[in-house]
Amino acid sequence: MRETEQKAAQAYTKQFGSEPDLVASAPGRINLIGEHTDYNGGFVLPCAIDRRIAIAVGTGEGGLYSADFDETREVGEKDGSWADYPRSVAWAMAKDGNRVEPFEAAFAGDVPLGSGLSSSAAIEAATALALDALFGLDIERKDLAVLCQRAENDYVGVASGIMDQYASLLCEAGAALLVDCRSLEAHSVPLDLAAAGLALVVCDTRVERGLADTGYNDRRATCERAAQTLGIDELRDATDEDLNRLSGEELERARHVVSENARVLAAVEALKNNDFDEFGRLMYVSHASLRDHYEVSTPELDTFVETAREHGAKGARLTGAGFGGCAIALVPESRTDEVTEACRRAFAEHDLQEPAFYEFVPAAGAELAE
Ligand code: GLA
Repeated sequence: MRETEQKAAQAYTKQFGSEPDLVASAPGRINLIGEHTDYNGGFVLPCAIDRRIAIAVGTGEGGLYSADFDETREVGEKDGSWADYPRSVAWAMAKDGNRVEPFEAAFAGDVPLGSGLSSSAAIEAATALALDALFGLDIERKDLAVLCQRAENDYVGVASGIMDQYASLLCEAGAALLVDCRSLEAHSVPLDLAAAGLALVVCDTRVERGLADTGYNDRRATCERAAQTLGIDELRDATDEDLNRLSGEELERARHVVSENARVLAAVEALKNNDFDEFGRLMYVSHASLRDHYEVSTPELDTFVETAREHGAKGARLTGAGFGGCAIALVPESRTDEVTEACRRAFAEHDLQEPAFYEFVPAAGAELAE
């Protein structure tokens, strides 16, 4: 068992006085490329990170316990807390006609919260896998991911796309996951950074993302309007020529989406050829497009990307929704300290809050613990 899984199991026993029936865990994610494309029916390329949320679960009525917050909540009603995520999953399962009996659960995790590394998808995915096993529902992983997205959209009330839940449930260790967000086909793309002498440096800007929801929903709505103007279902189907028929914000947002979809496919080709120079170049172009056309970057994210570039990163970009949160860089292993130190200095010089740094390797998706 992983450390987080052990912690959840111990918390369960301490809290509910018996051994859990089973333990599961699911990871957070970073997205390598393909931003704001999922809700446009496009392509994304996330990979799971080696930070997870674990759940220990059994039948019973002891409620939901978080070891990290040291608090118990009723399984019952929505209350705006962390417990809404596991509740939402049970709700979506029952809504689909599955037999969901009373359960009690303990959670423990090490995914940084609220920083854009998808701690919410991780808790949903872990809960979905655990309840599926506990009640013998036998739901396929892809369907669990769709169920988790519906839980988040309809119960929690965040209009997110499918990327984070897919990444948490379907990623494999040592690989990124190419997802076609329209057909929901997904393929692992091997990603051996160590063999290429590279590390994935993540910069958490620690910028509160209070406005993110408004900005996010706004961008979504503009994309839908642009598709309507073009007479197509989703911007996935828009071509470069179509852009001539758009103007203003619709044009800017669509320009990003159309070019970003092409970049994801080009990035996958580059990975297959072990061409990290090209892969990195596409990351930089993606960032510029998110900054200039999609307008979801911030001074912090831009400072990280530019500083990483000056200090030898092959590529860097914001990851996730933007508006704060995290950025990533592909950095030669020998230069990671140089990059993080230079970023710390640059943030201080610009009077920006001190960021946090992580290094991740592509990790396994959700699993039941042995
Ligand atoms: C958030 C959402 C995802 C996706 C990204 C942007 O992480 O949860 O569905 O839309 O933003 O690519």
